[in-house]
Amino acid sequence: MPFFIKYQMLEIKNLIHNFKSPDKSEQNVLNIEQFKLDENSQKAIYGKSGSGKTTFINCISGITKPTSGKILFNSQNIPDLNESQRDKFRSVNTGIIFQNYNLLKSFSVLENVLLGMKFSGTVNKNEALEILKRVGLFGKIHSKPKNLSSGEQQRTAIARAVVNSPKLLLADEPTANLDNKNSEIVIDLIKEICTEKGISLLLITHEKEVIEKFEDKINFDELNKRKN
Ligand SMILES: Nc1ncnc2c1ncn2[C@@H]1O[C@H](COP(=O)(O)OP(=O)(O)OP(=O)(O)O)[C@@H](O)[C@H]1O
Ligand SMILES: [Mg+2]
Repeated sequence: MPFFIKYQMLEIKNLIHNFKSPDKSEQNVLNIEQFKLDENSQKAIYGKSGSGKTTFINCISGITKPTSGKILFNSQNIPDLNESQRDKFRSVNTGIIFQNYNLLKSFSVLENVLLGMKFSGTVNKNEALEILKRVGLFGKIHSKPKNLSSGEQQRTAIARAVVNSPKLLLADEPTANLDNKNSEIVIDLIKEICTEKGISLLLITHEKEVIEKFEDKINFDELNKRKN
């Protein structure tokens, strides 16, 4: 196993996010005093539905600009960046695995992975083939998502998220649509690839079996002291 010196990669301070309710009143969704993540670490987050977990990782990746607070990623405060700078930051530094895969339907497995590379500026077909081999999809590279099983679609999404070797992988309930056996395969695969490539992992889950695979786990309902 490679040896890495750990240092703090992500530090969040006094993060607040409010959404506007249909009646125009403000709904507080995030109120997090402090959160830290080291480089080369793996952390699971669990908590109730609707508690703000997806909003939290959307703030970290820069998809959502929080109402206030600091999100320091290697000392760069993400909310200080404008939208196009945040898009660039996201494509270079983060990989994201979504609950519903978010694969492009009319593109093949290989094309979906290559498109992931295109956004960060460097397309390397050999690396795309290498990671598809690693996730066990080498025989399916020309298949379209609709001809894949749920587990295969999720493994395509994993390949796309890690192909650029981002510093941080954000996985939002990556096993929600999988049975127990495939869920275990997918979690083990994500953890192994992150260790091999030196990627930090922040993973959201509802599943007890998945939470138990992590030494470092955090209850989001205790972390997030939202005011309602
Ligand atoms: N774009 C939005 N506009 C307004 N409210 C939103 C928006 N996105 C999320 N919310 C609200 O914020 C709260 C938290 O949503 P979020 O999706 O972050 O929860 P979650 O913890 O990821 O839930 P789940 O476990 O079901 O995925 C919910 O009450 C939701 O309705
Ligand atoms: Mg969610």
